[in-house]
Amino acid sequence: MALDRGPGPSYLGVMALLQVITAPDPRLKAKTRPVPKVDGRIRRLMDDMLETMYAAPGIGLAAPQVGEALRVLVVDIARKGEKPQPLRIANPEIVWASAEQVPCEEGCLSFPDQFAEVTRPAEVKIRYLDHENEFCELHATGLLAVCVQHEMDHLDGVLFVDYLSGLRRGIILRKLAKAKKQKAAVSA
Ligand code: NI
Repeated sequence: MALDRGPGPSYLGVMALLQVITAPDPRLKAKTRPVPKVDGRIRRLMDDMLETMYAAPGIGLAAPQVGEALRVLVVDIARKGEKPQPLRIANPEIVWASAEQVPCEEGCLSFPDQFAEVTRPAEVKIRYLDHENEFCELHATGLLAVCVQHEMDHLDGVLFVDYLSGLRRGIILRKLAKAKKQKAAVSA
């Protein structure tokens, strides 16, 4: 997920930047599979995704956005200057959602410079496997709740523009398709 604000915290380590897939792209709508276990390969993917997310900058990134059809996502909503609070999440499940719903302006690293208001449950409880392959529970509120739900949607091929009217979604997707075409023409 992207927010309309400045760069996030810098992240040090021996990791690799991955290429973020931008819409429209069928890989963003693909079905994902749970990881059998969070092993070294999945931990490496999580760390590479975090570095890619910080560099973008963004506050959340899901595996399908980097071409991996796996139920893996990373999140860090710490602001610039704050201590990083990375969450490495595999196989997340929502175990509770509040009846209260709130609107929030969302963006997405796969939809550069596009923002729109989406209404979601204000709070959720999720269960997931962390980078140590341990079961964890998280009660997310505020921006964290929004971000976790946005990233979990990616695992089911649901994008934030899917909450908008077909007209609005069409305008955004055509704009991005055109931008992609122009970029391809320039680099050809
Ligand atoms: Ni997104």
